[in-house]
Amino acid sequence: MKNILITGAAGFIGYNLTKSLIENKEIKVLGIDSLNNAYDNNLKKLRLKNLENNENFVFSNIDLSNQNNFGGIQGSNFDCVIHLAARAGVRQSFREPKQYILDNTVSTTNLSGFVKKKEIQKFLIASTSSIYGDSGESPMKEDTDEKYPPPSVYASSKLSGELMAKTILDGTETCIQIPRFFTVYGPYGRPDMSILRFIHWIYTGTEILLYGDGNQKRSFTYIDDVISGLNTLILSKDSGVFNIGSDKTVSLNQVISIIEKELNIKSKIDYQPRAFKDVDVVIPDLNRMKSLNWNPTTSIEKGISETIQWYLKYEEELKNIRFKFEYEK
Ligand SMILES: NC(=O)c1ccc[n+]([C@@H]2O[C@H](COP(=O)([O-])OP(=O)(O)OC[C@H]3O[C@@H](n4cnc5c(N)ncnc54)[C@H](O)[C@@H]3O)[C@@H](O)[C@H]2O)c1
Repeated sequence: MKNILITGAAGFIGYNLTKSLIENKEIKVLGIDSLNNAYDNNLKKLRLKNLENNENFVFSNIDLSNQNNFGGIQGSNFDCVIHLAARAGVRQSFREPKQYILDNTVSTTNLSGFVKKKEIQKFLIASTSSIYGDSGESPMKEDTDEKYPPPSVYASSKLSGELMAKTILDGTETCIQIPRFFTVYGPYGRPDMSILRFIHWIYTGTEILLYGDGNQKRSFTYIDDVISGLNTLILSKDSGVFNIGSDKTVSLNQVISIIEKELNIKSKIDYQPRAFKDVDVVIPDLNRMKSLNWNPTTSIEKGISETIQWYLKYEEELKNIRFKFEYEK
């Protein structure tokens, strides 16, 4: 793989993947992103600033939901397209469903047409554990979604994207791989996700906004494990859906106490009612990824410690980032 197109390159996972790939001088990346306002854009600009000076990286501001923009994609002969662009977030998706359909379903549909037209051999499409919802099954196998309806607009828009890609590329030689991520955290993470928000709020002495009693568990997955999972898929010829997550679940209360210990600061908590359709615990079945010799290896203590070290290093730049949505104030 030498010539790679990455969508969502200014996003959390897209940035970290791009950064790791272009360290290899043999690989050239065209990064695409619409720099939307789903969360504070200053963080996306900070990520892009770190990529700008690398001669193996070119950035293009393109909104994939508009088919007319595809003419602006420079370069050709991509060996691989890695589609990470999306509008993420379960709660917000109920507020603006059409935007989620555009950024997730329509964008993936448009990109699938591009992959077909250009006869690209490999297409990775990021998807999410949110698709699995509250099926009561544990651990979640990759075919669980066939038995239960998606529990949110976000999940529906992502699952529709998966289906559109499979349908449009059916009968072609493109190898489609669909990694489904489980609650990813780490340096350059999203300010709308719990671990980074908790670190920021505890460090700045702000009350933590906690939905529910904090006993709900998550399969928190450290970004380096996600990147190694994506690299495993890039090198593999197997097509299909693959869970990429940690099989050790941790509660939000446990996360808070690990951060308190690491920062040596006691938190203040503002308990709010549990979010609509917030799922209790989702544990991934990892057998498919394990058969490719991938395993998550970062403990929650190590991952949080690394994230805090990064946060403290970039404290100045992060001071002005918004960690709350308008409706949370
Ligand atoms: N972070 C997680 O915990 C997690 C968990 C499960 C799945 N995922 C999936 O992983 C992928 C990356 O997530 P992330 O956490 O990096 O999110 P992110 O929001 O940080 O990154 C996504 C990027 O896509 C861009 N984008 C959105 N719509 C676009 C469009 N129409 N055209 C071009 N660019 C557009 C955004 O501007 C953003 O920079 C997404 O597909 C998401 O659904 C993430």
